[in-house]
Amino acid sequence: MTANILDGKALAEEIRGEVAMGVAEMQQKHGITPGLAAVLVGDDPASAIYVRNKRRACDEVGMVSNTILLPSDSTNEQVLAQVQALNNDPRFHGILVQLPLPVQVDERLIMESLDPSKDVDGLHPFNVGKLVQGRADFVPGTPAGIQQILLRSGHDPAGANVVVCGRSDIVGKPMAILLMQRADGANATVTICHTRTKNMADITRQADILVSAIGSPNVITADMVKEGAVVIDVGINRVDDDSRKSGYRLVGDVDFAAVSEKASAITPVPGGVGPMTIAMLLVNTLTATRLSIHGSGS
Ligand code: GUN
Repeated sequence: MTANILDGKALAEEIRGEVAMGVAEMQQKHGITPGLAAVLVGDDPASAIYVRNKRRACDEVGMVSNTILLPSDSTNEQVLAQVQALNNDPRFHGILVQLPLPVQVDERLIMESLDPSKDVDGLHPFNVGKLVQGRADFVPGTPAGIQQILLRSGHDPAGANVVVCGRSDIVGKPMAILLMQRADGANATVTICHTRTKNMADITRQADILVSAIGSPNVITADMVKEGAVVIDVGINRVDDDSRKSGYRLVGDVDFAAVSEKASAITPVPGGVGPMTIAMLLVNTLTATRLSIHGSGS
């Protein structure tokens, strides 16, 4: 079997088009332009690229955007003060604090300082709790994007065995919670694998839908995948490549060449999950703007 390539770039463009219409309508009906502020602490090059791409996407759909750069030696107090200022700034309906933060900054403390109604990454404990209860306003961008890839490509997870590899707060956990909900676009039987899982390949081979959010190149090999499975690769890993000007190229967690001979559908890296994460951030920013007007996202 040769897998269909699930084109996240094209699906993200479709979603950005829908968001752009929502932004235009918001301006017409209410005279309000949705705004997103990004806080970037330090000079991690990958984070700088992600934040730049998020900002460009905002501009493209007609949102107001701003990036606040803080030095890599920032203290908790300095980051908290910045978040507080944005919580109180009516130009910005959404705030994202790019992760990871430098080691001296307490990520949980910062997440808890966000106004939950502006937390468009869905990482404040209040929003995590709402997600667990199946009444989220903001689903974190990567899991939300993966759910959209599945639905828009005709792979409804209802009744499917979904195996998620990785248990991070930002991808693995919310992915599992989202797909196990009693809700349209969910209703899956979900298993999570992690670093202490025994015989991971035995478990991944049960997956109708396999989501890998491990963060190491080529860890998902063809022998770990069931014939005909749908494979979603969240990994964005840099590997050395002397033939590139940059000296590196991006690869996922999945051995793409071998697995795409076995899967029925697979996301590429780049051009799979990454663009969808950004598109869903825009969806969440539009939702936050609607919430600020109506007290309801719909
Ligand atoms: N770092 C990697 N992915 C993300 C994301 O979706 N949001 C934030 N804030 N930081 C990230």
